[in-house]
Amino acid sequence: MTSQSDAIFHYHQRTKHNINAYAKGPETLDWDDQPDPFRRFTGCNTVDLPAPGADLHCLFGDLDQPENIASQPLTLKNLGLMLELSFGLSAWKGYGPDRWALRCNPSSGNLHPTEAYLLCTDPELLPSGVYHYVSHDHHLEQRSTFDSADLKPELFLGLSSIHWREAWKYGERAFRYCQHDIGHALAALSYAAACLGWTIELLSEVADYDIAQWLGLDRNDDFVEHEHEAPDLFCRISINSHDSQGLDADILSKNLQAAQWFGKAERLSGRHFYRWPIIDEVSVNAQKPLTTAVRMQQPTIKLPSPSQNISASQLIRQRRSAQNFNGKALPLPLADFQRILLALLPNAKPPFTAWNWPAQVHLCLFVHRVEGMEPGLYLLPRDSHALPELKQAFSADFNWQTIEAPFEFYQLTPGNVKQAAKTLSCHQPIAGDSAFSLGMLACFSDNIEAEAWRYRRLFWECGLIGQILYLEAEAAGIRGTGIGCFFDDAVHGVLGLQDNSWQSLYHFTVGAPLDDGRLQTSPAYEHLQR
Ligand SMILES: Cc1cc2nc3c(=O)[nH]c(=O)nc-3n(C[C@H](O)[C@H](O)[C@H](O)COP(=O)(O)O)c2cc1C
Repeated sequence: MTSQSDAIFHYHQRTKHNINAYAKGPETLDWDDQPDPFRRFTGCNTVDLPAPGADLHCLFGDLDQPENIASQPLTLKNLGLMLELSFGLSAWKGYGPDRWALRCNPSSGNLHPTEAYLLCTDPELLPSGVYHYVSHDHHLEQRSTFDSADLKPELFLGLSSIHWREAWKYGERAFRYCQHDIGHALAALSYAAACLGWTIELLSEVADYDIAQWLGLDRNDDFVEHEHEAPDLFCRISINSHDSQGLDADILSKNLQAAQWFGKAERLSGRHFYRWPIIDEVSVNAQKPLTTAVRMQQPTIKLPSPSQNISASQLIRQRRSAQNFNGKALPLPLADFQRILLALLPNAKPPFTAWNWPAQVHLCLFVHRVEGMEPGLYLLPRDSHALPELKQAFSADFNWQTIEAPFEFYQLTPGNVKQAAKTLSCHQPIAGDSAFSLGMLACFSDNIEAEAWRYRRLFWECGLIGQILYLEAEAAGIRGTGIGCFFDDAVHGVLGLQDNSWQSLYHFTVGAPLDDGRLQTSPAYEHLQR
């Protein structure tokens, strides 16, 4: 085992919530020092994107067969639409004097540590350079310019995380949430691109230090101390091809070395009263080096039509987290439940078209209210090869009853599991009042021992699954909510897991939402129309 994987195991163990002690976080929240959720760079030119809010013809169900969606031309209007539907604002909420923006991509605590950058080598679209997307203003800030005469005209998108934004509220556990958010963001991008007939090719071979150099994240003097951005992902936006094209990183690096940079990041918060050095440590130990390029050929699974087959752009903009669920709602129709679970299996559709690895995450479901299903604890293996190991690791008391379904599905134990789900998810009623909730169980120690950076990748996969659940819940006429707060080892105890071969990394809940009538809602981009 390497010292890097040791450091990861140490971080993971230390940031578990336990029933009698939460992971270390701030003792009080310094509301006056809350980091600005919108990063801006001063001293850059900005490029306005055409007005947000346009609708597309594509229905949510059309995204099941993305190869049939006609590819839209690469224009600033379509690029703006893709950015809006992945990272843009979806609404403003208000309560008394407080107002806050929601976005198409969700984020733990609505803190939004994820930042998005375009790298353009296609001068017909934009002068060659790196551009930062500001969701609040729906415009681009030009961070750099370079000569792209030796480069093919292409468009790339990179994602990074400002760990401080999340750590301000959640302390040491925040690094995990930043990774979940990256998974959600990648999936949001993959769905948004597919609405335009485009594909996201995740260039997962690229090293973090290359992403940092290309996007200017390693320019320390451009960022305030403790507010730097960690590189996460780099992808190609493919307009006319669904095939992998690889990347010549050396040529890109050579051309970008002579880039001219503009702007400095504005300060996000004043005091930084609490510091969380373990986040910097785990971030260094989980850095990704250059790896061999891999691309997955996903299987084709035919999905039944969603029950609310509305416009994909409308569905993406209406996605919200439920704050409460109606514990007395009618059971979720079985057809909706089955479509939701089928959509979570690797398939040649978004977001899996942007994913390059076999499934490492399997789902333990707490079924509360689903038509024709006995309440209880169930398992959905997302790759049947993992089944023998899961059976070996789980409690010997489980009955592993095969459930008839269009996918492999097992009942582990029948019974009312509402209270268990609620208690395990930090006593949150949303886990018990829904139709079903679930824990995402990742193949853990084998992955971390093989390559420490896979720690991040496992959380990304969970975020990807979470984003599917959010959108599929909307398509079933109900709603979902991510659950980052759960008692890690209590969950493992219920499943009978003895060591860290398998670890639950994220929870989620889906059901009939109860709206909070006290909150006011206003349109996402009203402020740009004044
Ligand atoms: C990784 C992650 C963890 C979350 N954990 C919780 C949670 O434990 N409890 C909760 O009520 N909401 C949780 N949420 C929901 C967020 O609070 C919500 O996404 C955020 O407030 C933005 O609202 P929206 O999803 O409606 O856009 C989580 C969301 C994400 C992405």
